[in-house]
Amino acid sequence: MLLELAADRSLLFIGGKGGVGKTSVSSALGLHQARAGRRVLLVSTDPAHNLGHLWDRPVGDEPVLLADDGGSGVLAGVEIDPTATIEHHLAQVGQTLRDFMPDHLHKQVDAHLHLARSSPGTHESAILERIAEVVELAERDYDLMIFDTAPSGHTARLLALPEIMSAWTEGLLNRRTKAEKFGAAIRALDNDDPESSEGANRDRRIRQVLTQRRGKFEKLRGLITDPILCSFVIVVTAERVPVLESAELFHQLERLGVKVGGVVVNRLSPLDQGEFLAAKRTQEEEQLGKLGTLLPGADILTLPMLGGDLVGEPAVAQLADQLR
Ligand SMILES: Nc1ncnc2c1ncn2[C@@H]1O[C@H](COP(=O)(O)OP(=O)(O)OP(=O)(O)O)[C@@H](O)[C@H]1O
Ligand SMILES: [Mg+2]
Repeated sequence: MLLELAADRSLLFIGGKGGVGKTSVSSALGLHQARAGRRVLLVSTDPAHNLGHLWDRPVGDEPVLLADDGGSGVLAGVEIDPTATIEHHLAQVGQTLRDFMPDHLHKQVDAHLHLARSSPGTHESAILERIAEVVELAERDYDLMIFDTAPSGHTARLLALPEIMSAWTEGLLNRRTKAEKFGAAIRALDNDDPESSEGANRDRRIRQVLTQRRGKFEKLRGLITDPILCSFVIVVTAERVPVLESAELFHQLERLGVKVGGVVVNRLSPLDQGEFLAAKRTQEEEQLGKLGTLLPGADILTLPMLGGDLVGEPAVAQLADQLR
């Protein structure tokens, strides 16, 4: 089910609670698709350096080759650096705000941005803007992009943001239109003012910035909610709280218009490796049943707990072999 889903899509989001196996499953899926000849870009949007640890090599803002199939298939990885992304985003927003405000208010703009630096909304919108950028840049070079996202609640809010951001820029654009009309009327009365054409240029520049931003968010929103192009995969472990939270995430995403293509129950304990793990497995089966009841009709795939450290291509390949 997961393999078909990945083979048919060009955008996959992998989400779920912390530590359940999102990075491992994203990597396994990516490796499988690269070995099937596709060009895959794996993108981590998590502040922790997940891909780098799993693939045992530095992964940063530019795509790094993680694996290839000796032919056309490649798996490359990118880690979005949240701090650098936020700084860049705030610098841009700051410029836009300063353009909007008279000079004597610029100090307040700076104070506002200073506060915004530590607010979660800023963090998310900065990452979202970067995701939109990565999608746009990578579209030409890759057949499939897999986003290994940060733990649950965060992800859903992130996906809801294009709408919020789009509404926000829409509001600013409307206000701008009124201001421009007013400005034009003033300028018509005062044709010789040397500042007038500068004012018109500034209006145009601000409008351009806002329109571009709106375009970016709307495009991303369009891609994310297109079930032919994009799907969301929830990873979970068969434990009480993760199961409950995953069901909640599933419904939250569907409410946002994002199709959940599958749920992966990762790290199921073996039945034949001692009493302790066998007893654990019995409990996990119970939770698996509960998940089925909470999400009737959802495609659920189970993956076994693998022995040893999950680091490097051979280990990722071992997990990829378990995918169906
Ligand atoms: N099927 C599996 N069998 C054995 N170990 C696994 C399996 N899947 C994941 N792990 C291990 O579980 C740990 C967490 O996995 P992973 O880092 O993929 O989770 P994550 O959801 O990305 O975590 P985070 O939320 O911290 O980013 C890692 O040590 C990984 O090696
Ligand atoms: Mg991870």
